[in-house]
Amino acid sequence: MREVRIGLIGFGNVGREFVRQLLAREHIIAERFRVRFNIAFIADSRGVLYGTPTIRRDLLEKALNVPRGAVSSLKGGVRGESACSAVEKVRPEAVVEVTPSVYDLNTPALENVDVALENGADVVLANKAPLALRYEYFMKRAASLGCRIFFKACVMAGTPLVDFIMYGLRGREIGSLVGILNGTTNYVLGLIEDGLNFREAVKRAVVEGYAEPNYATDLEGIDLAAKASILYSLSMKPISINDVIIENKIDESVEEIVKNARSKRLKVKYVAVLLRNEAPRVKLVTLSEEDIMARVKGVQNCVKIRTLDESEILLMGPGAGRRVTALTLLSDLLLSVHKIWGGGNQAWKK
Ligand SMILES: NC(=O)c1ccc[n+]([C@@H]2O[C@H](COP(=O)([O-])OP(=O)(O)OC[C@H]3O[C@@H](n4cnc5c(N)ncnc54)[C@H](OP(=O)(O)O)[C@@H]3O)[C@@H](O)[C@H]2O)c1
Repeated sequence: MREVRIGLIGFGNVGREFVRQLLAREHIIAERFRVRFNIAFIADSRGVLYGTPTIRRDLLEKALNVPRGAVSSLKGGVRGESACSAVEKVRPEAVVEVTPSVYDLNTPALENVDVALENGADVVLANKAPLALRYEYFMKRAASLGCRIFFKACVMAGTPLVDFIMYGLRGREIGSLVGILNGTTNYVLGLIEDGLNFREAVKRAVVEGYAEPNYATDLEGIDLAAKASILYSLSMKPISINDVIIENKIDESVEEIVKNARSKRLKVKYVAVLLRNEAPRVKLVTLSEEDIMARVKGVQNCVKIRTLDESEILLMGPGAGRRVTALTLLSDLLLSVHKIWGGGNQAWKK
């Protein structure tokens, strides 16, 4: 049995579900892959919980029941300790980074990833910020240190788009990619099409749990821009979120656009558009009702990829949700253990 020591940074919705799924699937993973993941530390915003040397199942179960920000109040916890100190002390083989996606160079996630790589750990991300801000830097840094970064949970978290591009399309070039990659805005647009006004639609999306209370990053196109930048970096050339042009936001003006489109039997979708040799864009597009992408409902995600060999490929599936995101993190951890390369550009492979 291969025993793998991991560190978990972030213990909110996704971090906790990751632990739940790890506990629930321990036997399956051991049986099928002869691997056991042992969590050596969990960090939240207020401190770190350490194991001796890894955190036992009963303590993990207790941790799942403590309130936010209180993981270090348990036995083995160190209040005020930072995630980076934990990485340096424990030197885990892999670090799972699931702190909030904040697109600011001061976000602690950047240092978390840097320190993890410097200490020889592979990094598994659901947090989009490190690669949206500094894709090229991190990929080169990982390659030079002999580590890998896995990020399937950052875009279309429940559908293996990143693996598809990285492994499935290896050796082929993507000419264009159009994606519905933000479930919240697709859901809100759907409600506006059903006749609700913008404010009512957003309110309903929050009440039904399809929009976070802090939904501005979705409606302003920032989440979509982050995903666009990661996909562009992966499949075309490395850029930053700041290079993405946000043409439209989802606001009151959308009501009129939807109304006009409806009168022409067209559907409005909020998409990321990636064209080789052009800056990626986040914008509203109108599609014919027959277009498969026009039929993508609610929080579903969908991408249409056109390769330079003129194939059109469509991938559709869940984009987010804590359960599928946690399972995707587990999948990436298994890729890390199996030494399946996780860099974002073949040229950087060591
Ligand atoms: N939810 C999804 O379906 C989904 C899907 C794909 C990707 N993602 C991404 O996954 C990440 C996590 O999402 P989430 O919904 O789990 O967020 P969340 O519930 O807000 O949890 C974030 C966690 O990070 C911790 N944290 C904040 N700053 C920290 C720091 N400096 N050091 C250590 N821990 C810190 C928080 O600590 P406290 O507990 O102390 O507040 C909290 O435990 C985000 O980047 C999100 O964009 C989410």
